[in-house]
Amino acid sequence: FGRHLHIREVVTSTQDVLRKLAEEGAPEGTLVIAERQDNGRGRMGRSWVSPPGRGVSMSLLMRPDVPLQLAPQLTLLAAVALCRSLGRETGLPIGIKWPNDLLVDGRKISGILLESATEDERLRYVAVGLGIAVNLDADDYPEELLARAVSLKMAAGRAFDRTALIAAVLLEFEQLYAVYKERGFEPIRILWETYSVTLNRTVALNAGQGFFEGVPRGLDESGGLRVELPDGGVRTIYSAEIGDAAP
Ligand code: BTN
Repeated sequence: FGRHLHIREVVTSTQDVLRKLAEEGAPEGTLVIAERQDNGRGRMGRSWVSPPGRGVSMSLLMRPDVPLQLAPQLTLLAAVALCRSLGRETGLPIGIKWPNDLLVDGRKISGILLESATEDERLRYVAVGLGIAVNLDADDYPEELLARAVSLKMAAGRAFDRTALIAAVLLEFEQLYAVYKERGFEPIRILWETYSVTLNRTVALNAGQGFFEGVPRGLDESGGLRVELPDGGVRTIYSAEIGDAAP
């Protein structure tokens, strides 16, 4: 991964650049990195802002030959790849909040956005967008975000070489993807559950129709989150927002 590399100074979003390359036939593993995004996107229609020079904003092209319904598996694979590589490089205790936010002590250090193109109910390609708050300082963040977000530098008390981090992320990604292609989702599922900070505690979930409470117990084989409901039932969700349950 990353052997076909496109480095840009300013883009709207690295996702836009990568998707255009993908439509033009770029090979799997193509990577777009930008120093500045004027229209960075986050999950759930939110925007993603990162000051130039201190974060990592990049998009990686995958062309997995799987049905559309298995896209959540790739989301979770991306989270595990980032969690393992960044954890190893920084020594920080990084956990995964479902589906793919990376947290240190409850504060977000990285976000992942998957956008896919499909054909006949199969994935044609997936653009995996990765945003990592590497060397940001506290005054890079709006005040109201500081309770929920932190950079690797702030958490570890030292700055990191962005190139080394990118290399580590790509290597881990490539290795996990090889495992996924050879042995399927099960090994990835087990790793994800190991790093998860979401399981076995009461949370509030919003899958589109307002918040409900439940206890996430694990992942199913297609990558959905199995949530135990207060009435004892189980609901599997594929896309939702998770907050802390009311105390
Ligand atoms: C989230 O946590 O909501 C996901 C954030 C994803 C941000 C990255 S930065 C590189 C890529 N380009 C984008 O526009 N978004 C992703």
